Amino acid sequence: MGLKLEYHDGQTPLDEDEKEGLIVKSITTQGELDELEQLNIEKAVIWTISKKFRKEEILSESFVRQLHKKMYGDVWNWAGQFRTTGKNIGVDWFVIGIELKCLLDDTLYWIENETYPPDEIAIRFKHRLVSIHCFPNGNGRHSRLMADIIIETIFEQPVFSWHHSNMVKPDETRRKYISAVKLADVGKIEPLLEFARG
Ligand SMILES: Nc1ncnc2c1ncn2[C@@H]1O[C@H](COP(=O)(O)OP(=O)(O)O)[C@@H](O)[C@H]1O
Ligand SMILES: [Mg+2]
Repeated sequence: MGLKLEYHDGQTPLDEDEKEGLIVKSITTQGELDELEQLNIEKAVIWTISKKFRKEEILSESFVRQLHKKMYGDVWNWAGQFRTTGKNIGVDWFVIGIELKCLLDDTLYWIENETYPPDEIAIRFKHRLVSIHCFPNGNGRHSRLMADIIIETIFEQPVFSWHHSNMVKPDETRRKYISAVKLADVGKIEPLLEFARG
């Protein structure tokens, strides 16, 4: 296959099997792939606003997987399926289900007990989700859309701005984002909170 993908700091490379899962075989460049994924994601966003989900529905494994499938299902045949390979980011693939369950339960608890303010619940969820890294690819964009759905549907507050970027290009915005993510890795959540509203 003629597909040549470039990887930037903080992106997960695909292995050969995962590349095989490309549905549109005519794609040859990273730019074409980015564009096709973006179109698919826009369809998924429309799907999320056309439905009214309850918090117990959103905070479930089936919703997490369904959203990934809606975002990337026109592009990748493994969309919505947990990874079965190791990555440079994320937990061992065989504990993804357990780690996700733990995160979903914790988040429901934070909501019930108002452990943190709404933005902080959504962003803490987003950061732990992308740190588990459930899927072979698309985890960053998926985790940000999950945060938007939580803040809008569960807390009835405006979605995050994410610096008006999908963070696909390796520009200054993406560098800022990745450094905020790395601070969150060591327990400093504020920069990521600020970035999300910036
Ligand atoms: N050190 C890190 N700790 C946690 N998450 C990270 C780290 N570095 C990168 N990430 C997250 O992983 C994402 C990249 O994963 P990937 O599956 O390629 O998502 P996408 O294809 O949507 O960019 C980044 O956007 C970022 O959110
Ligand atoms: Mg990626």
